[in-house]
Amino acid sequence: MIKKILKVTGLVLGVLVVLIAGYYTKAHISTNRRMQKQYAITPQVLPILNDSAVLARGEHLIRIKACNECHGKDLGGKVFVDDAALGLLIAPNLTKGKGGRPLDFNAEDWSLALRHGLRRDRTPLLFMPSHEFTLMSEEDLTAIISYCANLEPVDREFPKSNIGPLARVLADLDKLPLLPAEMIDHDRKLAKQVKAEVSEEYGKYLATSCSGCHRENLKGGDPVAPGYPEVADISSTGHPGQWTDEQFIQTLRTGLTPEGKTLKPEEMPWTMTKEFSDLELKALHLYLKSI
Ligand code: HEC
Ligand code: HEC
Repeated sequence: MIKKILKVTGLVLGVLVVLIAGYYTKAHISTNRRMQKQYAITPQVLPILNDSAVLARGEHLIRIKACNECHGKDLGGKVFVDDAALGLLIAPNLTKGKGGRPLDFNAEDWSLALRHGLRRDRTPLLFMPSHEFTLMSEEDLTAIISYCANLEPVDREFPKSNIGPLARVLADLDKLPLLPAEMIDHDRKLAKQVKAEVSEEYGKYLATSCSGCHRENLKGGDPVAPGYPEVADISSTGHPGQWTDEQFIQTLRTGLTPEGKTLKPEEMPWTMTKEFSDLELKALHLYLKSI
């Protein structure tokens, strides 16, 4: 009897292993195909400028878009995930130093990366959040590109990134934004300029940095990954709907909420939001209260 049960259990386990191996092979092949796809698009190329006001705007945008949280403080690159299940992910050296952008990395290459989420060979970048940057105005993207193209060289070399099995499975199930190029409308015309003022329109423009976690409607929901907290509702029906501008600003600069909660920067990135100017935070708050 026991022998028979063991036999059946063994059979069931065997079938399961074969099914899982089969699924994994399918996921491996299909993610490889998506990662190697060459996008036949005509890139929208933004210029590299050397004007000091443009460079100063670029530096501010780099901080509020958290480029340095992934690419390192000096943008000389950083290992941003090193995990057996997720893989080894490098946010590369953006400077022209050793291990950085090649010397002939030009305006078209910068635009391919930021506007389209693509490498110069037109294959998609992994995990680089270009689907958010592509929503910026021409003026702001130009400022970012100009600032990056003028960085002091930093010598820092890295091994190649590689995607782990869990990342592949999650990407196959569309639970992980592995390939932002797939989420981008490559033909959309960018807004020339968005006026920096305390308006709902400017708040909405800035809120593209929040919707990746707080969802499109900014009402929050399930954790972004296992082990993380529920994402808070930050619309008019959540806590920020009740806060004054000063309380909103204080929360996003210190991680301390008026209700006495301490937000962890690795869960709610207030190290990024603390870089926003007063005007930007007031515009954001105005917009959040309007939804
Ligand atoms: C969430 C982390 C993250 C953030 C934030 C981020 N990047 Fe990246 N970026 C990456 C990763 C990862 C890659 C490498 C992708 C690859 O090699 O497939 C990358 C690649 C790039 C590339 C290389 C393109 C190429 O052709 O190889 C450029 C340029 C770049 N990022 C610029 C920026 C700028 C500018 C910002 C801010 C506006 C930014 N990144 C914000 C993770 C990030
Ligand atoms: C990487 C994901 C992520 C991003 C990006 C993000 N948030 Fe959050 N945010 C969270 C999580 C998770 C919480 C809940 C944290 C907790 O409960 O401890 C949170 C909490 C908050 C809170 C506190 C809400 C409360 O009820 O106390 C505010 C305010 C907030 N976020 C505003 C923003 C704004 C504004 C942006 C965009 C500029 C933003 N967040 C971007 C993940 C994120």
